[in-house]
This record gives sequence, structure tokens and C-alpha cells, in this order.
Amino acid sequence: MKFKKVVLLYSGGLDTSVMLKWIQEKYSCELIALTLDIGQPQTDFEKTKAKALKLGAKKAFVIDAKKEFAEEYVSKAIKANAMYEDSYPLSTAIGRPLLAKWAVKIAEQEGADAIAHGSTGKGNDQVRIEATVSSLNPNLTSLAPVREWGLTREEEMAYAEKHGIPIPEKSVYSTDENMWGKSTECGVLEDPFHEPPKEVFSYTTLPEKAPAEAELIEIEFQAGIPCALNGVKMPLHELVMKLNGIAAKHGVGVSDHMEDRIVGLKSREVYECPAAECILKAHKDLEKTVCTIHENTFKTMVDDKWAYMAYAGLWLDPLMGGLNAFIDKANEKVCGKVKLKLFKGSAKVVGRSSPYALYDLNLSTYEKGSLFNQNAAPGFIELWGLQSKLANHISAKNGAHK
Ligand code: ARG
Repeated sequence: MKFKKVVLLYSGGLDTSVMLKWIQEKYSCELIALTLDIGQPQTDFEKTKAKALKLGAKKAFVIDAKKEFAEEYVSKAIKANAMYEDSYPLSTAIGRPLLAKWAVKIAEQEGADAIAHGSTGKGNDQVRIEATVSSLNPNLTSLAPVREWGLTREEEMAYAEKHGIPIPEKSVYSTDENMWGKSTECGVLEDPFHEPPKEVFSYTTLPEKAPAEAELIEIEFQAGIPCALNGVKMPLHELVMKLNGIAAKHGVGVSDHMEDRIVGLKSREVYECPAAECILKAHKDLEKTVCTIHENTFKTMVDDKWAYMAYAGLWLDPLMGGLNAFIDKANEKVCGKVKLKLFKGSAKVVGRSSPYALYDLNLSTYEKGSLFNQNAAPGFIELWGLQSKLANHISAKNGAHK
């Protein structure tokens, strides 16, 4: 295969740095590095850019996509109460289609013919990136050097050394991070019986070391999207990043998850998603408060499907548009405030209020003066239980229940 120009999704880490050099050598092509800021903490993007140029990239783009990520991706996940297999808020999963979208945009702008990424051949990320790239521009080829090059860790180090690529102090873990959360794999975590060691948690405080005092926070929602934190209005990306700091201090948002990958493997993942845990819990609670039982039970099924589609890398499948249309409709009235208590690893909803709440004190109260007509209950029960009663009586007549 021949390429004249390749856009590489560049993180600045060892793998993608080796790749940056390797692609230029292997294909004798020009290389353009692309790095997206989607709220991954502690990253010096200027350094990343300088490193790419030093390793021979013709151009290096750093795009601040924090606002776009929050408004177009995280917000949809919030409205869909997105939680894969009850444990994973899809932080990595929803970042990939945005990376792919930008890679296609830069490739088209620069006249490149291929896109390269650092994902392995065993994970979901290759699927998410390549399925999105081919949906957006079928003429672009996707390259996944890690999948093809077959370098061992030692060979990769030797290659890095030969080309003057700085080797970071050895980390045994593979991590991925953005404002919606951090995932950690590999090392001792590959033994699912082994408790995740302390050093895995770079982000959240261990519950046993978290403050002895609980902290109350208040999140306000407008049409399903958080718009204020503790009474202060702010854009979603700022709110998420601020809340990460607050909730991480209390050790909130950690999960240790046996995950079903789309490529058939099971893997053990450790997630730290402090803001996501608080926001998703608050959102779900408020949604339950304002929606009917029928909307709530139906939406659970739609939400499950949404989470699976996002996990499976099918962000651009037309079904997602249909699911989002329903989800947006249901979220129109998800407005109001939710109070949460953060304490030693847990975030609990302790209060909610909304102008759209279907909860009516005059109906629900056990105090005197309730408007609920209890005299209507016996008639309701008679009809509600009619078929069950009949079925049981007829079974008994035919010899069941003996
Ligand atoms: N298992 C997660 C997913 O498929 C995270 C994948 C990337 N994580 C990593 N540590 N490299 O979305």
C-alpha cells in the first residue's frame, strides 16, 4: 500500500510516538499529527505538539474540543443515562467518534489519504474509530500500526531508543482519560481476583482516605443537561471538570468491572468517573420525578440500546438518530435541581425539585386532607387483579397447586 499523507491521532505517549516515526519510514509518506483536548488532565499540549514536530511530523494540530465534546457527546450520554453493563459511563467510548470526526476533517483539509491510530487489534477503540471514519469518508484508509507491526514491548523500546523517542518511566497499566472519566487496564488487573492496587487510582482519593465530613452538592438541569453547580451557572465542560475535582476528593465514581467487549473478549476494567457518577445519578432521579411510569419503563429500554450502540462504535448509525430524537423529547421536561451527598466513595441523591414534578403532595400525603380517593381503590383492585384471579382459580380446578 502507498500513501502520500497520513493523519495520525497522536497522544504524545510512547506508542503513538513510535508510530509517528514508523509510519514515515514504512510508507515514505508525509505525516500530520492530530491531538484533541477533550479534558484529559495534566497534559501539556504545547509539549505534545513540539514532540510531534521533532519526530518529523510536517504539521501538528492541537484542537481544543472540550466544549464540543461536552455539548455534542457527553450531553447525549447524560440524557440517555448512559451506563454500559451498569458499571461504565462510556467515557472512552464517546470520545472516539469525536476523534475520528476530527481526523477526517483534518485529512480532507490537508489532502491526506489515510488515518492512523494507536488502538490494538483486541479492543473496542479500533472499531469505534474505523467505523466512524468509513461512515464519514469511505475513501480514507484506516491504519492501525499496533495491530500490524507485531513489535514486542522490548522491540518497541529499542526502536524508540534508536530514534531518540523519550521513554516514559515504565507504567504497567494502559489508561485512557478525558473529562468524562478514566479507564485503566493491564498489569495485575488482568487477574480479576486481584484487588486493584492503590497506585491505579491516580485520580480519585481512596474512600478510606476521603474526608470524614460529607459534602452536599446541588446540580441544576435544564432540558436534561446540567447548567449550574451549587447555584453557579456554567457551561457543561466547565461544570463537569469542576465536579470531577469535588467528587474525586470523596472517592466517588470508582468501578471495578468485568466487561464484555464487542470483539468477544471479556476484560477487567477499572474506571474512575467522579463527575459522571454524580451527574448520571442526579439526572436519572430527576427524570423519574418528571416522567410517567410508562415513559420511564420504555426509556430504560431505549437507554440500554443507546449505551450498547455507543459502546459498540455505531455512533453514526441512523438508529442513534432515532433513539436521540425520543431521548431529547423525554428530556424536555427534565428541569430542576438535585441534591447529592458525597461521602467516602459514595454519591447519594438526597433531594430533588422540579416545576414539572409529577409528585403531588396533596395526593401522596398520609396526613389528613389527601385528595387521593381511597374509595376508588377496591374497584381498581377488582379489575386489575381479575385475570390473575381467574387464572389461578382455573388452574386450581384443573388440579394445580396440590
Ligand atoms: N474498555 C473501555 C472501552 O472499551 C476502555 C478502553 C480504553 N482503555 C484503556 N485503558 N486503554 O471503552
